[in-house]
Amino acid sequence: MNRLIKLNNLNINMDKPVQLYDSPGHKIYWVGSVEETIFRCNTYLLLDGKQNYLIDPGGVVTHFSQVMERVKAISEPSDITHIIVHHQDPDLCASIPLWLKFNKDIVIMTDPRTRVLLPHYGIVDGKYFNVDDKKAVALPSGGELKFIRSPFMHSPGAFVTYDSVSRFLFSSDICAALDDNRKLVADDINSQLGLMNAFLEDYIACNKAIRGFLKNIKGIEIVAILPQHGSIIKKEFVKPMLDYLKDFKCGLDILYPDL
Ligand SMILES: [Fe+2]
Ligand SMILES: [Fe+2]
Repeated sequence: MNRLIKLNNLNINMDKPVQLYDSPGHKIYWVGSVEETIFRCNTYLLLDGKQNYLIDPGGVVTHFSQVMERVKAISEPSDITHIIVHHQDPDLCASIPLWLKFNKDIVIMTDPRTRVLLPHYGIVDGKYFNVDDKKAVALPSGGELKFIRSPFMHSPGAFVTYDSVSRFLFSSDICAALDDNRKLVADDINSQLGLMNAFLEDYIACNKAIRGFLKNIKGIEIVAILPQHGSIIKKEFVKPMLDYLKDFKCGLDILYPDL
């Protein structure tokens, strides 16, 4: 039986990995950190058969030791087979060289614009999967991971990952919120939208970038949005969240309103 784990914030202990989804051969965990910063980062671990995907592994300072501890509670670090990195920022990428020390054969799944920058983190002999070439990868349990472009939200090569089994959208900085209240799952859509505004206004290029992304995900059934910062957006909040984004003015819309 496929099941989305029902999460009640009161019962979540974020000092440990938090299981978000469970079905035969397919499991998803939050393995992020709880730093004392509004920029706390979410990392996710998706296990399917012998494929173990670490999604947006994160930075080095504070974050890495916590992610490692949570991963170790589930799996050997050397068993990580794939890293999905949605863009090139250090809060996603800086720890990749440390993960490669456990398994040099980890496949880094990313776009060419991110790949060209990863050697600057000290990744010299990385094995790569180009998400622009192959827009999906089959999973042993029968589903697939689909890679969907989200240009300029906020990086030129940005993309998101959709898991057809859980129907989760791993959105990286899209729907990210600057949040220090440590709730893993949003339980109030209005406060979540408020927490998201500052990030959207400063980091997303413009409303056209948002509309392009919304076009790219049109028709896809999304059960939850899992961003890299802030709280997870559960099913009942997905449509209001996407509707809110549609007309949001940000970035260049604000800086150059008359152009
Ligand atoms: Fe970013
Ligand atoms: Fe980020």
